[in-house]
Amino acid sequence: QKGGYKHFMLKEIFEQPMVVTNCLTGRLSPDHKHVTLPELEEMPVPERLHIIACGTSFHAGLWAMYLMENWAKIPTSVEIASEYRYRDTILGEGDQVLVISQSGETADTLACLRKVKEQGAKVIGLCNVVGSSIARESDTVIYTQAGPEISVASTKAMCSQLVVLTLMALFWGRRKNLLTEMAETECLDTLKRIPEHLETALPEMRETARTLARQYSGARSFLFLGRGSCYPLALEGALKLKEISYIHAEGYAAGEMKHGPIALIDPDFPTFALALADDLFPKVQSNLQEVQARNGKIIALTQDGMDLTVDSVWKIPHAWGPLDVFFALPALQLFAYEVADYLGKDVDQPRNLAKSVTVE
Ligand code: F6R
Repeated sequence: QKGGYKHFMLKEIFEQPMVVTNCLTGRLSPDHKHVTLPELEEMPVPERLHIIACGTSFHAGLWAMYLMENWAKIPTSVEIASEYRYRDTILGEGDQVLVISQSGETADTLACLRKVKEQGAKVIGLCNVVGSSIARESDTVIYTQAGPEISVASTKAMCSQLVVLTLMALFWGRRKNLLTEMAETECLDTLKRIPEHLETALPEMRETARTLARQYSGARSFLFLGRGSCYPLALEGALKLKEISYIHAEGYAAGEMKHGPIALIDPDFPTFALALADDLFPKVQSNLQEVQARNGKIIALTQDGMDLTVDSVWKIPHAWGPLDVFFALPALQLFAYEVADYLGKDVDQPRNLAKSVTVE
């Protein structure tokens, strides 16, 4: 059942190349130059997009905000379902709601869906489980096609959400005539190459994760830092580590560190930084110097050509722009996995957690 892997979580991390392929299947035009999403064809492009989700699906939504704003110029807000459902939220005409849920049964997310539908909003569901409550009650549903996810910690489902969200941003950007054909083709070409590239990279990434896990699993607490579209990844890296290894971890926007968390930095409080080759790299670099000045240890997830001198440099392959996420995400997942496994935790069934949170 586990296909030779020790845990479902590891199997599912290694399934991500196939997940990307499956997500793209049937969603490209015959010449592979454009996105086809029949699920969205009948709906207008949202004037504003409200993304609502919980946990890892919330992090996927937060990541998508950068693409929706940048490529499709859609004002986007991303909300935690348990907060959104009890607020006096305001939806304008032309606004659309996107609910993201792997299981399609998360109680708070489902309650938000019902609330906004009552207010007359159109709802797009992004679900993995076919026929789930959220899938059934949405006005239109896009399936992530990731296959069943057994491990409680969500890994491949987030990967599939990110692929579909990328396609949605391209689809809407094109409908608004905002994308050059070149940008769209370049993005799709990169996406198509990711499965092969990731397949090759994953074994080595696992080895690095295993080595780092042995070095850092004695820490009682971890800080995950990122900026821009890497900020949601910092949140996700921290969530994965805490839920399966029970090591306290906090994900933070790197620029916010000096507004409080910097007080915690000492040699026993390591930082895991996302320092990818994007426009914000110099800013992250200077945040890391602040950590080093306080003798904090650093693991930096980075790429070739980036100039960083920290305790542990972990280089991942380049894809293209924000699509580097398809390498950064499994790196974070593998790090959490290897730490938890090294500490002898029950990786697939972490204490106090359920796969599908059907109570509020
Ligand atoms: C974390 C995790 C949870 C879920 C959350 C939402 O690894 O799995 O945070 O992401 O409970 O679940 P869905 O996506 O099913 O609504």
